Amino acid sequence: MKVSDKNIAVFGAVFGDESKARVTNYFSKSYRYTVRFGGSSNAGCTFYYKGKKVVRHLIPAADFSIIENKAFLGSGMVINPDELLSEIKETIDTYSDSSLKVGERIIIDPDAFVIKQEYLEEDKNNIKSFGSTGKGVSVAYRDKIYRKGTKILDLIKDSDPVILKLKELGVQFKFAHELYDDFIKSSILYQGVQAVMLDINAGTYPYVTSGDCTAGGIFNSGFGFAMPSKIYGVAKCYSSRVGEGPFPTELFGNEAEHLRKIGAEFGATTGRPRRVGWLVLPMLKYAIKRASITDLVLTKLDVLESYGEIKLCTRYSNLDRDPASGSDFFNVIPEYKSFNSWDSRESIDDYLKYIEDYIGINISYFTYGLSDKDFMART
Ligand code: IMP
Repeated sequence: MKVSDKNIAVFGAVFGDESKARVTNYFSKSYRYTVRFGGSSNAGCTFYYKGKKVVRHLIPAADFSIIENKAFLGSGMVINPDELLSEIKETIDTYSDSSLKVGERIIIDPDAFVIKQEYLEEDKNNIKSFGSTGKGVSVAYRDKIYRKGTKILDLIKDSDPVILKLKELGVQFKFAHELYDDFIKSSILYQGVQAVMLDINAGTYPYVTSGDCTAGGIFNSGFGFAMPSKIYGVAKCYSSRVGEGPFPTELFGNEAEHLRKIGAEFGATTGRPRRVGWLVLPMLKYAIKRASITDLVLTKLDVLESYGEIKLCTRYSNLDRDPASGSDFFNVIPEYKSFNSWDSRESIDDYLKYIEDYIGINISYFTYGLSDKDFMART
């Protein structure tokens, strides 16, 4: 892969679980820092390392086998310290080679907020009503905004046992601003969390997460001096959603079960079966404009290989304008365009070209399988 952009970002474009971590991991080989600017362990980030499945929730999907690569957990995050400790141990184990010193290459901004144990109990109420992951995320963000939150910095000051254990593993605690010179010299890959339609501002409120899922979060975490020149949105060639909220093209019954099974659509964080349906172009176009996405990566095309008819929702019959807000996606009736099965690269190209013309940006990459060779550049 050739990289000409010094700083780039990767965001989920629709409802998340779009293989953003795989895309991030692929790009991270060429970037010195992989930075998470928001979210928490509600995110389930799956990719493969040496053929083995890796699932991360808090630690960015950086490729630590490259000794120069580092990961930074930014101040927009809310972090459960126990989960952080066990995930860092797991991440160190993934690479098994102690000379790689993985722990020392994980840096945490002390301005990030803490998920306290009691938040988990309180968040249980949101599991039913919003489909929350129950990880305490909304409660932590609420207390942060209500100015009653606890920062990682407070745990450091109190010599909290978890912080001491993290330090023993080599983990560093540094404010983004302390690394300013290094960030300016290096290249940065920002890994978004969840997706635009789950963003607290842009999404289908109240069926959203509580943090930033767009470039606003990069700026707010202190990285305004290193904003990305390219923002990749990642979407699947179909859609899935975990939790409640509008999903205009949702499939049900056998059709849903089949797609869920062949797409392996079960939550990486909760194991819940994901709701599945066709890709919604009016929503994708809205998300692209709303989050200033410059390039699309379309994933999992191989999943629809056996389909005789592939559908795209191209408009809503009860909305005769472009959607302008997350609130425009409630109670809409989808209309579809059908494509023949993908029997050649040409038929895939026709499908990709149709989407590009609709959304107004390039599909720079698409994926057709799990290995790096199935990660295909289009230009
Ligand atoms: P919470 O942020 O855990 O409260 O979850 C809020 C909503 O976002 C719920 O519908 C979750 O299922 C959804 N959500 C949270 N994290 C993810 C993710 O990583 N992928 C997809 N959906 C997510």
